[in-house]
Amino acid sequence: MARLGLERSVVDPTVYKNTVARFREAGVLLPTIGQLKDPSTIPAAIREKLKDVNPDSPHPLNLFRVHWFNDDQRTGLTDVPEHIELPPELTGVKARIVLALGNKFPLINAHKVLAAYGCLVPRLVTGQFDPTHHRAVWPSTGNYCRGGVAISRILGCHGIAVLPENMSKERFDWLDKWVTDPADIIRTPGCESNVKEIYDECAALDRDPTNIIFNQFCEFGNYLVHRNCTGAAMEKLFHTLTKGRPTAKLAAYVSASGSAGTLAAGDHLKQSLGARIVAVEAAECPTLLNNGFGDHNIQGIGDKHVPFIHNVMNTDMVVAISDLHTDSLMVLFNTDEGRKYLVERRGIDATLVKRLANLGLSSICNMLAAIKTARHLDLGSEDVILSVATSGAAMYTSEIEKTLARHFSKGFDAISAGEVWGRSLAATTTDHMLEMTHTNRERVFNLGYYTWVEQQGVSLEEFSVRKHQSFWDGLQDLVPAWDAMITRFNAETGVDKVLGA
Ligand SMILES: Cc1ncc(COP(=O)(O)O)c(C=O)c1O
Repeated sequence: MARLGLERSVVDPTVYKNTVARFREAGVLLPTIGQLKDPSTIPAAIREKLKDVNPDSPHPLNLFRVHWFNDDQRTGLTDVPEHIELPPELTGVKARIVLALGNKFPLINAHKVLAAYGCLVPRLVTGQFDPTHHRAVWPSTGNYCRGGVAISRILGCHGIAVLPENMSKERFDWLDKWVTDPADIIRTPGCESNVKEIYDECAALDRDPTNIIFNQFCEFGNYLVHRNCTGAAMEKLFHTLTKGRPTAKLAAYVSASGSAGTLAAGDHLKQSLGARIVAVEAAECPTLLNNGFGDHNIQGIGDKHVPFIHNVMNTDMVVAISDLHTDSLMVLFNTDEGRKYLVERRGIDATLVKRLANLGLSSICNMLAAIKTARHLDLGSEDVILSVATSGAAMYTSEIEKTLARHFSKGFDAISAGEVWGRSLAATTTDHMLEMTHTNRERVFNLGYYTWVEQQGVSLEEFSVRKHQSFWDGLQDLVPAWDAMITRFNAETGVDKVLGA
């Protein structure tokens, strides 16, 4: 099980010793998962020091900002995650649809830096990654690898980004600035859904023992940080939104799945608040819905495979959204003509319209899936649907230009805005969705066999045990075990004392 990141004791004492020495020298203190779940538990001395740290600098203290409770400026703390509530005038449904904003995370303006930390930290404190010797390889569709590269740089080690060549220009521009060597950006063939090509590249890199692959699609650290940190943040958000409304219910948690890490918050929300778990994918590549395949542009949500850390047997609904709609709405939300239409023609509050810039392509996808869920379940005003906006529109300026050139070559005017509204938002219905019966869940679960057992060499036993909820719940024991190891590791580096933590 070593390759799946499930260790709870030191695997290699020499590697561990080297890592402790490097962290001592670089003054790096590791936050526990508990601290990232509830940042009010971060020592006051650290919080004070953070006030002078730029959230986008490769400063070790920024690791203490890898959580959902950064304020709008990303310098201070909030009691409740920054979020956007989409009104019925926009969504056309009565249910309250609320997205937590991932672009308030430090370093990369996306919550995938949490997944990167979740995959790395167990390896560090169990002596499986030596920053003085190993290279950290981050296979991704763009945001996870940016998180990994940022953290690698903080640790003073070599980080390698592996991502498809067709990802947005803004991702590559960011990587160009952060990698130590341009050769550390590896472009794999194809687009968003070409995950197999990413795996093939990683298999080649894995032949060199100095490369350590942090495969977010199968590392349970990714699952656990989201189940615990994102889950708790969402729960807090729900309670804040529904204060004084005893009949309010969390009807669903909706998340487009790339690695399925973010989806793991659903396991917590189902347990604590009875929420349904809705997994979302691109209609152009309906792998979960229909065993389908194809290219799409909802950047970040991969597909053509079922991630190993997707708790399929606990998934309640699957929804597919077309990238025609996410691309078009991205233009509607982020052009003067589009914003004018939303405010003047549709009467949507101008401040809210400006805030729609917090939504990237997969966030708009989540919004549409939430609308479909509300329609399908006939939800009312006491029903809440929570979701996430992984990254904001800033990551997709070049994609807006492409969509304008492709679909609106004569210009994007008021008529185009009305067409997009009618076709991509108002017409959102209950097509391309499936309630997951036991049979449907088994069908999707079994599909994962071909990737993980046949292709990636996972044993049948490791694959099959994931069918049972006791396996996923049992993983929770790792969190206190890892946190104890992080605390011990910090004590051994002595950086805790240096920082007064
Ligand atoms: C923009 C964006 N949206 C959604 C996702 C999917 O998140 P997850 O991998 O946690 O399923 C990703 C993952 O990289 C992403 O970058």
